[in-house]
Amino acid sequence: MKNILVTGCNGQLGSELRELTQQDNGGMTFFFTDIEQLDITDKEAVNRYVNEHEIDCIVNCAAFTAVDLAESKADFCRVLNEEAPAILARAVAGRGGSMIQISTDYVFDGTAHIPYREEDAVCPVSVYGKTKLGGERAVAEACPESVIIRTAWLYSSYGKNFVKTMLRLGQEKPELGVVADQVGTPTYARDLARTILVILSKGLVPGVYHYSNEGAASWYDFTKAIHRLGGVTGCHVKPLHTEEYPTPAERPHYSILDKTKIKETYGVEIPYWEDALAECIQILDK
Ligand SMILES: NC(=O)c1ccc[n+]([C@@H]2O[C@H](COP(=O)([O-])OP(=O)(O)OC[C@H]3O[C@@H](n4cnc5c(N)ncnc54)[C@H](OP(=O)(O)O)[C@@H]3O)[C@@H](O)[C@H]2O)c1
Repeated sequence: MKNILVTGCNGQLGSELRELTQQDNGGMTFFFTDIEQLDITDKEAVNRYVNEHEIDCIVNCAAFTAVDLAESKADFCRVLNEEAPAILARAVAGRGGSMIQISTDYVFDGTAHIPYREEDAVCPVSVYGKTKLGGERAVAEACPESVIIRTAWLYSSYGKNFVKTMLRLGQEKPELGVVADQVGTPTYARDLARTILVILSKGLVPGVYHYSNEGAASWYDFTKAIHRLGGVTGCHVKPLHTEEYPTPAERPHYSILDKTKIKETYGVEIPYWEDALAECIQILDK
């Protein structure tokens, strides 16, 4: 029986993991913690928790995820995204265990025109991206048995996210301007959680992996699909250039991830982004 610690369990991905494991724990014992139970920046508390609960593997879903706020809170963001994963990795490696660290497509600068592979050169353009890259490196160094999964544009029926915001704004406003020249892949956190459970049950093959849903969309395309699938009819969505919607953090213009490695290693089938969105919106409608 393996003991798995999921940190940041009240967030989007952590909540999806908790719900899925309530249906089927795959013969593993899961411990779910968020900051109230375990602050991952507290080294002594992490070491104590990991040893007392005999943790074999940590799935770190905790992070500083507010990309724009990170620009003015760089130190805090670095502690959470870079130092805390190192604390977790050292604690679990000290017991001979392993770790799954979640990272981001924002480690890339977005100048590519074909999907990014794991070995492509990284060059983050935001504080968030830089600190998440620092987290990847710290985890790989402290716990070489770890798996790092870069994902993108996460949404869920849990937590705050773009899908919920666009459904709300679509009801409130007659017109919305949305950026149409940043292309990525919206990713349903439940699909990523399903894949994490496959990795845990089949065993960690250390290294970096990319996971998002299949296909590509701009934020504009994503919004149009959210409104269509969510039955929002009275809102005109206008495509904007990035320059027309300035934000504190720069974002990559292109961040599609190549998922060949995770599909070949773990045999996972990845849903197309619009099908995944339909599943999430159906849950939100209930
Ligand atoms: N969201 C995206 O679009 C996106 C895209 C690419 C990659 N990712 C990565 O995917 C992972 C999961 O993202 P998510 O969207 O599920 O994140 P999320 O919803 O922001 O959840 C993160 C959770 O971590 C908690 N947390 C904050 N500080 C903590 C601490 N010191 N100790 C323990 N827990 C703490 C947060 O609590 P509070 O809410 O109270 O702060 C929150 O419950 C992250 O690594 C993120 O970087 C996300």
